[in-house]
Amino acid sequence: MVNRRKFLQGSVFSLISASVSFPLKGKSGRKVSGNAPARPVVAATWDNRNATEAGMKVLLNGGSALDAVEAGARIPEGDPEDTSVGFGGYPDREGRVTLDACIMDEKGNAGAVTYLQHIKHPISVARKVMEKTPHVMLTGDGALQFALEQGFEKENLLTDHAEKVWKEWASEERVKPGNHDTIGILALDDKGNICGACSTSGLAFKMPGRVGDSPIIGAGMYVDNEIGGACATGVGELVMKIVGSYMIVEMMRQGNSPLQACRLAVERIIRKYPEIKKNGDTQVGFLALNKQGEVGGYSVRKDYSIAVSEQTRTYLINPDFHIR
Ligand code: GLY
Repeated sequence: MVNRRKFLQGSVFSLISASVSFPLKGKSGRKVSGNAPARPVVAATWDNRNATEAGMKVLLNGGSALDAVEAGARIPEGDPEDTSVGFGGYPDREGRVTLDACIMDEKGNAGAVTYLQHIKHPISVARKVMEKTPHVMLTGDGALQFALEQGFEKENLLTDHAEKVWKEWASEERVKPGNHDTIGILALDDKGNICGACSTSGLAFKMPGRVGDSPIIGAGMYVDNEIGGACATGVGELVMKIVGSYMIVEMMRQGNSPLQACRLAVERIIRKYPEIKKNGDTQVGFLALNKQGEVGGYSVRKDYSIAVSEQTRTYLINPDFHIR
C-alpha cells in the first residue's frame, strides 16, 4: 500500500488529485477527460513510482513498451519489503510463497504463470512463456520446471519478516486473507505501442492452490493496441467475476475515457456484489491507459493510488472511489 512503499530519494515526485483533467478529443471525436501525460508514459497501480521510473528509463534508452513493463514489474518483485509481490510476498496458509503474473504485448501475444514457487521474477518467466512456448499459461510445478530450464535461479522467497507475520497469523487461527497490493503496469512507448504486465503473491495467507485475477489475461490485465490497456489490484475474486481489465478496454473502445471505463467496472462490481459495501476491507482498484496517453483509475474504496512516469516527471494520482 502507499504508506508501506519506499519513497525513492532524489526523484521529482509530486501528488496529483484524480480531479485534475484535460479536455481531449477521444477516438470517437467527442471530448473525454482524464490525465493526459505526453507519450511515452508508464503507469502502475499503487505507489510504485520506482517501478514506473524503471520502465520510463527503459523507454528513454530505446527499449520497447514490453521491456518497460517487465522492468517495472521486476522492481517490487525483487523488493523484500514489498509483501504483496515476488520475493518477500506473504505466503499461503501453509507458508508457501506462490506467485502469479502475466504479460501482454502490442501484437496481442500473452504469457502467464500461476502458482509459481521459488522464482523471484515471475513476470520474466511469463514473458518466456509468451515468447518461447506455444502456450499462454503454465502453472505450479510445470511453470517451475520451465523456469529452471530457461535458466532462472531457484531461491527461497520467504523472508524472515514474512515468515514471522505468517506464524503470528497462523497462531491466531485467522481464516480471512489480508493485504492485496498487486502491481499492474502499463506502458505506451513513443511508437504508440501499449503493453501491460501484472505480478503478485496473491492474497496473504490464501488457501493453498488459490489463484487470483493477476495472471488471468482479461481479468488482472488486458491490452488491445488499437485501444489501450487496463489492469487491476485488490480482491482478485471480484475482478475475475467481471473480467475487469477486458471490460475496461471494451468500455474505452466504446468511447469512454480511462477514468470513465474504470468507474464503470467498479460500478459493475458494486451492482453485482453489493454485500462488499458492508465489508470494510474489500478493495478493488483499476488502472487504464489509452492510445492518446490518458491515464485514469477508480477504486471501490479510498486509499488507492496510481504512479505515473512521463519523460521528465513522476507523480502519484489519488483516483476517485465509489464507497464514501
Ligand atoms: N489481485 C491479486 C489477487 O487477488 O491475487
